[in-house]
Amino acid sequence: MKTRVALVGAGGIGRYHYEQLKKIEDIEVVGVSDVALERAREMSSRVGGCPAFDNHVEMYDTVRPVAVFIGIPPFAHSDQETAAAERGIHIFVQKPPTTTMEKAHAVLAAVEKAGVVTAVGFQDRYLDVVEEAKTALSDQKPGLAMGYWLGGMPGVPWWRVRAQSGGQAVEQTIHIFDTARYLFGEAESVFAAARKGLMLDVPNYDVDDSSAMTIQFKSGVLCTIFSACFLRGGPGKAGLDVYCQNLKIEYGLRNNVRLSGHREIREVRHRNDNDLDCVKTFIDAVRGGDRQRIRSPYADAVKSLELPLAGQRSIDTGRIAQLG
Ligand SMILES: NC(=O)c1ccc[n+]([C@@H]2O[C@H](COP(=O)([O-])OP(=O)(O)OC[C@H]3O[C@@H](n4cnc5c(N)ncnc54)[C@H](O)[C@@H]3O)[C@@H](O)[C@H]2O)c1
Repeated sequence: MKTRVALVGAGGIGRYHYEQLKKIEDIEVVGVSDVALERAREMSSRVGGCPAFDNHVEMYDTVRPVAVFIGIPPFAHSDQETAAAERGIHIFVQKPPTTTMEKAHAVLAAVEKAGVVTAVGFQDRYLDVVEEAKTALSDQKPGLAMGYWLGGMPGVPWWRVRAQSGGQAVEQTIHIFDTARYLFGEAESVFAAARKGLMLDVPNYDVDDSSAMTIQFKSGVLCTIFSACFLRGGPGKAGLDVYCQNLKIEYGLRNNVRLSGHREIREVRHRNDNDLDCVKTFIDAVRGGDRQRIRSPYADAVKSLELPLAGQRSIDTGRIAQLG
């Protein structure tokens, strides 16, 4: 029997979800919903002509999917998850799961009450090279780390509006925050600073041009994560560098990891299809497989969201933000 899935959001990541689902046997996309109906229709013709909707609740009640893939802008999360949970529909949702901790906790309570399977699109947790870094750290005490997402401004119109995207750290660099949590465990506090002024020619732009967010982890690791979105053509950088007493780990985002010790330097290049692994692990759990294999269920992703939100709070107040 085919697994009946629906898509909410027919933009860039909606297409990506479909590309991953195509690689899995016995999947049927039974509905697509987007507030822009023409986008839902365009996507539905791409996936074989299923019904298109401009209202996700109507879609849930009409086509009754087993699972939904939600890929909408951060500000647009209203009841997409809670309405699915109430109907027993399993939920794969993109990062950032929303833009406030209040909303994230409300959704978490709803999905836990319903007992549905959840996964959040932190696909880097399934990277072979991140696994290499995690294994290398298992007998090390990391002291200092630096994370980066330094690049240009994404073109989608909502990205440059802080009230809509949450800003770069929340929307984009959150992948690095999540990888840092995956490697270092839970955090205690975040202290951050930011700058503006380089992007005055961009209409509707009110996010920071760059920020530095320093996280104190409970294990003692001190990790500063830099974000920058003002680069125009110059080389950027994305990844995480970790310094231990006898080991340096340099992780290049979705590309490679380089492990440098006193006597040996070893480089491993990324090879596995982590995008598929992330989606497939969720689908396997929906089909009755092991939920514990999901590396980023909603409850865990909420903790990753808390880090850049705390950093943003620190920027706004000029104070260290303690984590809950
Ligand atoms: N995991 C990753 O690597 C990755 C990569 C890109 C984007 N994303 C995330 O995916 C999400 C969407 O990004 P995108 O690039 O697809 O954006 P996009 O602007 O290309 O597409 C968003 C779509 O959602 C629709 N939409 C808006 N509000 C809606 C609502 N209330 N209900 C249904 N549809 C709605 C829009 O009409 C649009 O078609 C963001 O949270 C982004 O951070 C994740």
